[in-house]
Amino acid sequence: MARTDSAPWLRQTLLTLLCAIDEGIHVVDDTGVTVYYNAQAAELEGLEPESVLGKHILDVYPSLDPENSTLLQVCRTKRPVLTQQQSFTNFKGQRVTTLNTTLPIIIDNRLVGAVEVSKNITAVRELSERLLDLQARVFDRNPDSTTSGRPIARYTFADIIGQNSKMVELKSLAQRSATTDSAVLVLGETGTGKELVVQAIHNASRRRARPFVAQNCAALPETLLESILFGTIRGSFTGAENRPGLFEIANGGTLFLDELNAMPPSLQAKLLRVLQDGMVRRIGDSKLRPVDVRIITAMNEKPFEAMRKGTLREDLYYRINVVTIGLPPLRERRDDSLLLSQHFISHYNRVFGRKVIGLAEKTWEVFKNYDWPGNVRELQHALEGAMNIIDGDIILPEHLPAHIREGNALGFAGLSVTGTDSFILSPGQSLHDALAEAEIRYVEQAMQQARGNVTLAAEILRIPRQTLQYKLRTRK
Ligand SMILES: Nc1ncnc2c1ncn2[C@@H]1O[C@H](COP(=O)(O)OP(=O)(O)OP(=O)(O)O)[C@@H](O)[C@H]1O
Ligand SMILES: [Mg+2]
Repeated sequence: MARTDSAPWLRQTLLTLLCAIDEGIHVVDDTGVTVYYNAQAAELEGLEPESVLGKHILDVYPSLDPENSTLLQVCRTKRPVLTQQQSFTNFKGQRVTTLNTTLPIIIDNRLVGAVEVSKNITAVRELSERLLDLQARVFDRNPDSTTSGRPIARYTFADIIGQNSKMVELKSLAQRSATTDSAVLVLGETGTGKELVVQAIHNASRRRARPFVAQNCAALPETLLESILFGTIRGSFTGAENRPGLFEIANGGTLFLDELNAMPPSLQAKLLRVLQDGMVRRIGDSKLRPVDVRIITAMNEKPFEAMRKGTLREDLYYRINVVTIGLPPLRERRDDSLLLSQHFISHYNRVFGRKVIGLAEKTWEVFKNYDWPGNVRELQHALEGAMNIIDGDIILPEHLPAHIREGNALGFAGLSVTGTDSFILSPGQSLHDALAEAEIRYVEQAMQQARGNVTLAAEILRIPRQTLQYKLRTRK
């Protein structure tokens, strides 16, 4: 269609997009005069767009000079400055932390300006630092107490239910690893019990009275994760404080890095250095501090697959997989699902004050035919749901979510958009709108099947959880 070729159409699309996104956008021409500044940038900096547009940036920001302004620096060097963390007090007196990427704009080999994209990470940073301070305080208060470092590591080997031969072998391997300080890598699909095993190892090790610190590597942007792991000293970047990182907080104990393959490779290289040297350097510090930390990592992807995709560095992999514990999916240890069911039924009998005896034969048949993509977690929540609605003392198939009853564990085979008019466009409806509507229906159906569990629904739809979260947020 010609419409998409026309420059005004493209320009208007871009402007609409720039107003709709969450990031602040600031564009200057090659002389440093602002030519575009969106409402989000104005909000971040506490300014009115009119006071910035058409002005030179040194006239707007008194604290900037040609050296420390990233926009001017990029105009000068023509080189991008990527994901820089910056904390500052804005014009309304609010403390703000942003992640900025500044890029040169080049047309026909000539620099015509620069664009800065700023993501507001103030809330994430505040929460992470509060958590860090709390963790540090909990352990500082009584470093020798056997309980002070432990509230987070509550599981022991006795909590790991399973008599399947693979599970027995694996528990014995994990128990032996608890007698050493070697790095352990725990692998397994979502809900297979990775966290359980990691905590059990810590609690059986000589480090049990020392901290157990867990960090999910997928939860934070790179620069923040770096400062959380290694710590910072005042002034190492604008707004940085003297703060120990998780390595120092976990000193003497165990540091559990979950979803390691979500850690950016450049940070993985820094992590490897700390593991090899046994020393950590806070960001901006010249001093190296010795740390005695046992590292346990976990991933829900096969390491060779992650290395092939470039999300796991090979050198780090060989350092962290001294002991590898691979948890089998529940569908490969069906013999354990009965034992696990009994365990969860007793648990919820206690919690809900019920007297459920067990599963009906038919329910057990359903369990045997179901693939359990959410593994033990899914089984646990299916039983929790059943025990909410049950009247008698036996769990029947009708107490289970429909997709389990019908054996539709995975994929679109289990999803169908109902209604005979699904493929007929309503008058005036475009293909785009019809597809968007169908997508919403698939998403809602998956959410229903997963009883609101986003991780599970994402698995049913076979899309990343983050993608589903985005779709849920933006659905009309
Ligand atoms: N063998 C087991 N015995 C008893 N409970 C288990 C077992 N395996 C898992 N669970 C329970 O299932 C739930 C999920 O386990 P866990 O959080 O350890 O999974 P995970 O592998 O870390 O999952 P994810 O990759 O999604 O983080 C927890 O409530 C845990 O207690
Ligand atoms: Mg986990």
